[in-house]
Amino acid sequence: MLHSNVNDMDITNIIALSNRPKVFEKGSHQMWTDPYISKNLLEIHLNPEINLASRKPDSIQASLDWILDFNSDSQLNILDLGCGPGLYAEELVKRGHKVTGIDFSENSIRYAKEQVKIKKNQINYICQNYLEIEYENLFDIIILIYTDFCILLPEEQELLLAKIKKALKPGGVFAFDFNNDRNLDQKVGAKNWEAVEQGFWSPKPYLCLSEPFHYPEKKVLLFQHTVIQENKTPKVYRFWTHYFSMSDMEKLLDRNGFKILESSDKVLPEGDCWLGNNISFVIAGSKE
Ligand SMILES: C[S@@+](CC[C@H](N)C(=O)[O-])C[C@H]1O[C@@H](n2cnc3c(N)ncnc32)[C@H](O)[C@@H]1O
Repeated sequence: MLHSNVNDMDITNIIALSNRPKVFEKGSHQMWTDPYISKNLLEIHLNPEINLASRKPDSIQASLDWILDFNSDSQLNILDLGCGPGLYAEELVKRGHKVTGIDFSENSIRYAKEQVKIKKNQINYICQNYLEIEYENLFDIIILIYTDFCILLPEEQELLLAKIKKALKPGGVFAFDFNNDRNLDQKVGAKNWEAVEQGFWSPKPYLCLSEPFHYPEKKVLLFQHTVIQENKTPKVYRFWTHYFSMSDMEKLLDRNGFKILESSDKVLPEGDCWLGNNISFVIAGSKE
C-alpha cells in the first residue's frame, strides 16, 4: 500500500543535508569501523570477483610484483598500512617476507588473526589507527594500497609521511597508489539513491541518497551518502577523495622529505575509471 504523507520525514533537514558541504567538513558517522557495515565490507574484501574494498587477485599480484621488483631482496621487513583482512600481507609472507599489518577495523583484524592461526603463518596484525604509529628505523618497505593516501586530509597526509619517514630503515621505501587526474568526469560520477528493506548501510529499512561533489580548487572529490531511517537522525557518510597529477605528488613528497624513485600508471589491468592508467603507483624514498 502506498502512503501519500510522509510525516516522519523532515524534508527541510534532508534538503539541508544535501547542500554542498564546506570543503573537508566531516560526516556524522564512520564507515570502516561501524560493526554492521564492517561485516558487509569484509565480505566485499573477500569476494575475488569484485574490485571494491580490495582489488581482485590479479591486481593484488600485479601490484606486489611491481613493488617487489624495485627491491628483490629476500626477507624484507614490510609494514602494510590499512591492511584490511590481510590479502596483501598473506601474499607477502608467501613470498618470504616478514609482515606487520595495521588496520583500525576490528572486524578485519579479527578475521586476519583467525587466518594466521588457520594458515600457521607469522603475520603480526595490529588493530590501530595508522596515523598513530610510532616506529623508528624498522621497515624496508611500507605499503598503503587502494588509493588510501587520497582519503586523508592534507594535514593527515603530512603527518603520515612524517611517521613513515621515521619508521623506514635508511634506504627503505614507501610504496603506494593514488587517483590521478585522468577521466575526472567519470570519477565524479552522478547522484543516485536506493530505498531498501535492508542493505549495505543498515539491517533495517532505509533510503540512501548518494551525491558526488567536486572541489577543483582543492583537487578533491566528495562522495556523500545520507542514510535516512524512520524515527532516526539521518547518518551522513563522507569520503573526501583527493586526486593528484604526478607532478602534484612529486611536490607533496618533496615538501615532506621524499623523492620519487619509481612510478607507473600501468600496474593495474584496464577497467573502469578506478583501474588501469587512472591509478598511479609510486615508490618514494627519503631525499637525504
Ligand atoms: C579500501 S580498504 C583497502 C584494504 C587493503 N589495503 C586492500 O587493498 O586490500 C581501506 C582499509 O584501510 C583501513 N583504514 C582506513 N583508514 C585507516 C586508518 N586511519 N587507520 C587504520 N586503518 C585505516 C580500513 O579499515 C580498510 O580496511
